Amino acid sequence: MKTIVSMALLLLLGANALAQGNSALAAASAIQGQNILDVKPDASADPGYATQTNAERSKVQPGNNAPLWRQVGSGVSGISSLPKSEAPEAGILIQPYVQYPGSRLTNAGEAWREVRNRFIIPYGGALLLIVIVAIGLFHWRIGPMPVKDQPTGRLVERFTPLERSAHWANAIAFCVLAVSGVVIAFGKFFLLPVIGATLFGWLAYVLKNAHNFAGPVFAVSLLIVIVTFMRDNLPAKGDVNWLLKGGGILSGHEIESGRFNAGEKITYWGGVFVLGLIVVASGLFMDKLLPGLVYERASMQMAHMVHAVSNLAMLCMFLGHIYMGTAGTRGAYDAMKTGYVDEAWAREHHALWLDDIKSGKIPAQRSQTEVAGQPVQV
Ligand code: HEM
Repeated sequence: MKTIVSMALLLLLGANALAQGNSALAAASAIQGQNILDVKPDASADPGYATQTNAERSKVQPGNNAPLWRQVGSGVSGISSLPKSEAPEAGILIQPYVQYPGSRLTNAGEAWREVRNRFIIPYGGALLLIVIVAIGLFHWRIGPMPVKDQPTGRLVERFTPLERSAHWANAIAFCVLAVSGVVIAFGKFFLLPVIGATLFGWLAYVLKNAHNFAGPVFAVSLLIVIVTFMRDNLPAKGDVNWLLKGGGILSGHEIESGRFNAGEKITYWGGVFVLGLIVVASGLFMDKLLPGLVYERASMQMAHMVHAVSNLAMLCMFLGHIYMGTAGTRGAYDAMKTGYVDEAWAREHHALWLDDIKSGKIPAQRSQTEVAGQPVQV
């Protein structure tokens, strides 16, 4: 008897479940053709839904805190006892929504993070690697630019001591900034897995401080480099020809140029003047060293993005410059080391400049000093 009753119960339950399933199916098929945007819960159909306060919303949709978070994310200013001039953002918990180039429309901190992590780091890193490989390939397949004639033993002054010391200070500061900057930006990908978190933490800490101290040295020496090298980097006759023929680097017949060729002029105006001033200004801004400005999160984020992008471009240019000034051009480094180059070098690489020296248009010796043990002749 018991068995019969339980079987009947089971049958009843099964039939009930089947009936419920059928009605759910029927309900689902009833809205199959509807636009999802039209299927709204009752509360959201209210015309005032979007402007509801959190208290109003919680009455119609308990647990829905969207109005509260919308207000938090709108950059609304709360109450703070700190003066606005000293702490402009003290009352603002979360920055308002923005869309930085390449980011989603989201709150500014997240938008900045997206630009850095999705664009600056991967594409900047790839660009640096491409430039390093290209320089390596150039050196391997084409090699350094030679001086075809034998050295004459007659030297001409290429850089005065002032130019050389500014250039050296700038170059050393640049190298410190480049190494520390690369570790700060990319170190966690290539150093952290090798040296471990403790060592990497200390290294990053030391390099960050080195970066902050080398920055002002770079800034001051950059200004001296800009001023002292400006005149000879002004456009001159022959620059266009030099550019059209790529300086003759590939053909092996170097195109004549003045004291600086058109390639060096591009480095000067693009790399030293424009990018140099942008990286210095954005760097000083991030260190809060520029007086009279308001430093807040949004302007820091923008300064960081400008600093990172312009630095990557500058680094690419200066990797080429450092290569050409050392391994890429035989004898060029002598100018940096001693301030003097052999006349044969000047004839090979800057023939018009040597012509001007020979004709007396430019003094062969601009400074009071002479290279040790070598009489200066022209
Ligand atoms: C390790 C780093 C560097 C090395 C080895 C180096 C080497 C050289 C050499 C050998 C020259 C002379 C080229 C010639 O005689 O035609 C030169 C020129 C020059 N360098 Fe550097 N340099 C370095 C970094 C820098 C940096 C960081 C800057 C500025 C941001 C800079 C700015 C210049 C300028 C303005 C010239 C004159 C040519 C021109 O106007 O492009 N250098 N460099």
